[in-house]
Amino acid sequence: MTTPPLDRMSIEEKASLLSGADFWHTAALEDHGVPSIMLTDGPHGLRKQRGSGDHLGLGDSVPATCFPPAVAMGSSWDVDLVRRVGEAIGTEAAVENVAVVLGPGVNIKRSPLCGRNFEYFSEDPVVAGVLGAAIVDGIQSRGVGASLKHFAANNQETDRMRVSADVDPRPLREIYLRAFQRVVEDARPWTVMCSYNRVNGVYASEDRWLLTTVLRDEWGFDGMVVSDWGAVDDRVRALAAGLDLEMPGSRGNTNAQLVAAVADGSLDADVVDVAAGRVLTLVDRTRAAVENPATLDIDAHHALAREAAGRSVVLLKNDGGLLPLAQDASIAVIGAFAAEPRYQGAGSSMISPTRLDNALDEIRSLATGSVTYAAGFSTAVDVTETESAGLRDEAVAAASGADVAVVFLGLPARLESEGYDRDDVDLPAAQLAVLAAVVDANPNVVVVLSNGGVVALPFAASVPAILEGWLLGQAGGGATADVLFGVVNPSAKLTETVPLRFADSPAYLDFPGEFSHVRYGEGLFVGYRWYDARDLDVAYPFGHGLSYTAFEYGPPSATTLADGDVDVRVAVTNTGSVAGREVVQLYSSLPAAVTQRPPRELKAFASVALEAGETREVTLRVRRKDLAYWDVRVDSWIVEGGTYTLEVAASSRDVRASVRVEVAGDPVTLPLSRSSSIGEVMADPLAGPILQAAIAEMTGVAPDAAGLVPEGVDLQKMLDSFPIGRVGMFGADVDPAMVDALLAAGQVRPDARVDADG
Ligand code: BGC
Repeated sequence: MTTPPLDRMSIEEKASLLSGADFWHTAALEDHGVPSIMLTDGPHGLRKQRGSGDHLGLGDSVPATCFPPAVAMGSSWDVDLVRRVGEAIGTEAAVENVAVVLGPGVNIKRSPLCGRNFEYFSEDPVVAGVLGAAIVDGIQSRGVGASLKHFAANNQETDRMRVSADVDPRPLREIYLRAFQRVVEDARPWTVMCSYNRVNGVYASEDRWLLTTVLRDEWGFDGMVVSDWGAVDDRVRALAAGLDLEMPGSRGNTNAQLVAAVADGSLDADVVDVAAGRVLTLVDRTRAAVENPATLDIDAHHALAREAAGRSVVLLKNDGGLLPLAQDASIAVIGAFAAEPRYQGAGSSMISPTRLDNALDEIRSLATGSVTYAAGFSTAVDVTETESAGLRDEAVAAASGADVAVVFLGLPARLESEGYDRDDVDLPAAQLAVLAAVVDANPNVVVVLSNGGVVALPFAASVPAILEGWLLGQAGGGATADVLFGVVNPSAKLTETVPLRFADSPAYLDFPGEFSHVRYGEGLFVGYRWYDARDLDVAYPFGHGLSYTAFEYGPPSATTLADGDVDVRVAVTNTGSVAGREVVQLYSSLPAAVTQRPPRELKAFASVALEAGETREVTLRVRRKDLAYWDVRVDSWIVEGGTYTLEVAASSRDVRASVRVEVAGDPVTLPLSRSSSIGEVMADPLAGPILQAAIAEMTGVAPDAAGLVPEGVDLQKMLDSFPIGRVGMFGADVDPAMVDALLAAGQVRPDARVDADG
């Protein structure tokens, strides 16, 4: 079935396609054979609601596999695994006749406080972009559309429906849009969801620059733009900006506004046609999958959820090789989260799982020694001091009699959710008190964390082992037991920095803003880019994660390919005695950069499985376009030329080796004028040499003697930023006509060309 021609439809019919028929469905046009399609959340499993629907995760939804949320899946750094999870989600969607899954979310974790960080992959745009593309690939391979969200600069929940993210062009392009760009260009999602917030004062839903110029004209997006639920403030303006489908429905009100705007000439009828055409194309693209769904193996999906969760647990610390545990060790399992897992976050992504493992049962099923359990604390809010003390005493008693205490700590569910941000990064004091008491009783403590956003780890030095379990989805209990006993060798690594002090974090002074504006004052320096540039110690760096084995890196080599991409090859060896998996990271820097640059930026990564003793050569491709910065002078991506350092690393602070490559710069076209600086004119290949000669002549006649430049002053540096049109004002004997002649020399071509090598 192909799209019916629009010219057979009335303007009312076309407009009716442009907003939801109800909370989750598009409108049908039965006379034209156009069915209604269903869009539902997303992102780490299907949330198909049974009733009329809400977007806060309050209503009941059909059971679906709850895979690990992005905070956990991201830590796998594994494209293949994430893709397979996407395939499974796509299959479950098709089976439920769902045409579009509302995810993935690739917003950048700007502050640890964002209530929705659990739904996002990373503080780094390459990680978020590559893994976001993998999940889109997976979902769409099943004939179901993905919806890349929340476009754009939606990095907090506070005031999310109004706040303006005030962000400069370079960080906007290089950090906040970059992940979206990568997913759009590499995975071609069928839909993109615009966010609630404003970007530099303009609602994302009404931002023509964002939804059309950048998304379609620059990146080549050919799908449909859907609003976040309730994000449309002015329907006519939004349509004109490029927002095709408004969700949910407005009972026909906004459709009537569109029809009226066309009638009074304030909206071009073609705009309605184009948007309606895009909705029809989406209906067409998804039709086969929802009409002939595949079969579903729910047990296989649970097994995949367990595999994914096992690959998402980050071993932060393992002093003295306390982990993995011997199966016959006597174990005290402490902490309410062991029996009542926190496995997903709250809000629109909340799934009704097909089943739910808990770590306590799974530890019991793998252990051959004794396993005791004490809740240690309660996750309820109204616990008395006496009750807390009683729970603590039980935990101490359990720990005292065991070889090892495995203590499950975490954030209570109400502390992090869609719709609001956290106030701090602390674990509840009652939990920390239990841990301290347990450590006093038995120093062999493994802490297992359950949290969607980063938490402070004030106890890090006092316990030998820490597993960051994030929120692991429905099979997280089994996966945690697998990692504790070494059935799975941990291989996950942090995709966000764990700071030593929350006050060190980049957005600390600029989050969540005030009076509906938040200033992205840290600019490019988000996440590790900030901690590295400020030379700040961190608790655990971006990219960090241990294994039960060890890996060695050989010397890297680099080859520049014909298209300018660079392949870096490095041999990685598993030097331990068990099989494992290493996430090899590649960071770039340009030490002599003229532009402001973070000390290192991730450009590529690979997850490599290695048997004990095995060596494999890993190839990491640095795409030339990923070396580019956004040049505000010419509104364009520019590769600055020079000698780049490419580091192969086990984490952002564990660089194993590096290699240098020469990269040719892109030419930058800069027009010359009287306000061009002397430095800019000097860099011009035509005007520069003429100016050089003139200055040499002037300084040759002893400028200090002329009283212009005191002794010891670097004249060249002083003049570099001086507008050439104003030199005459400072007593220099410069004829304005000479300046014009010089500038004209630089204009022999339509524009002067300056090499980006600086
Ligand atoms: C969320 C989206 C979600 C939508 C539908 C909104 O509140 O921001 O992520 O897809 O609701 O549930």
